Amino acid sequence: MITLTGLKLKNPTILAAGIMGTTGASLVRMANEGAGAVVTKSIGAEPKEGHPNPSMIQLECGFLNAMGLPNPSYDGFLQELEFAKNGSSVPVIASIFGGDADEFLRVAEGLSPAKPDAFELNVSCPHAEGYGAMIGTDPYVVEEITRAVCDSVDVPVWVKLTPNVTDIVAIGEAAERGGADGVVAINTVRAMAIDIATGYPILGNRFGGLSGSAIRPIAVKCVYDLYAALDIPVIGVGGVSGWQDAVEMIMAGASAVQIGSAVSGGVGVFGTIADGIDKYLDENGYTGVEGIIGLAHEVI
Ligand code: SIN
Repeated sequence: MITLTGLKLKNPTILAAGIMGTTGASLVRMANEGAGAVVTKSIGAEPKEGHPNPSMIQLECGFLNAMGLPNPSYDGFLQELEFAKNGSSVPVIASIFGGDADEFLRVAEGLSPAKPDAFELNVSCPHAEGYGAMIGTDPYVVEEITRAVCDSVDVPVWVKLTPNVTDIVAIGEAAERGGADGVVAINTVRAMAIDIATGYPILGNRFGGLSGSAIRPIAVKCVYDLYAALDIPVIGVGGVSGWQDAVEMIMAGASAVQIGSAVSGGVGVFGTIADGIDKYLDENGYTGVEGIIGLAHEVI
C-alpha cells in the first residue's frame, strides 16, 4: 500500500491516460487486473472526433499516435465515470483537457458529480491544435490553469507535463506554484513516420506522439530533474514495461509509475510489475517503495 497525494493505492502501478480508459467497464477491468489506480481517457468540454485514421501505428521501438483527443465530452462521459467509480476498488483519476483555464474548469466541474478521486490535467498532448502542449509549454498558462482547477475542486490535482520543451522543470514549477498536488512526467514525444513507398506521412495528422520503450530514458531524465526541483510527488510514465523499468523510474524520483503502451502486451502487466517491485524491495531489505524513491540522487 502506498499513499500518493493523499490517495491510498494498493501498489504503485497506475493505468496511464488514454489506454483502456474510454469506458467505465474497461477502467474497472484494469482495476481488477491489478492496477493500483486508473486514469481515464482525456475528456474535454465538447464531443470531439479526433484526427483522421491512421491515428496509431506500431513501430519497432514503440507506438506513434495522433488520436486527437477523441472523447464524448464531460456530459457524455459522466455515466462512464460513475460506472468506473462504483465498480472499481481503486482510485479513479479523471484526465481532462481544455483550451484555457475556464474550459478546464468547466470540464472539472462537469465531471465532479461522479466524484473522481483526483484530476489529471492534460497540458501535454503533442498534436492537438489549441490544447495540450500548445498551452502546456507556457509556464504562466500552466500555473493559471492549475490554480483555477485546484481552487474549485476538493480532490488532488495532478498535472501531466510535456517533454517537448527546453526546460520541463520550469513547467513543473509552474504547476507546483499553481497548487498541483503532483506532476506526471512524461506525455509522448513529438514524432512522425513516413511511408517510403509513397513519400506520405503515415499518420492521418502527419505527426503525433511517440510512446513505448524508446522514450523511457527521456522520461527517466525528466523525472530525475523534476524530483530534484519540486516538493510535490512526481509520477513517472514513459516506456515502463517491466518491474526493472519501474524500479529505475522510482529511483529517478517517481513515487508511482503509470503504464500505457505496455498494456498492449497483456493486461496482467500491472500485477507482474507490482509483484516484481515487491520482490525487489524484499530481496534488498527495503520495507516499502519509499526506501528507493529518488535513490539515484544519493549516489555521487
Ligand atoms: C490523444 O488523444 O490524442 C492522445 C492524448 C495525449 O497524447 O495526451
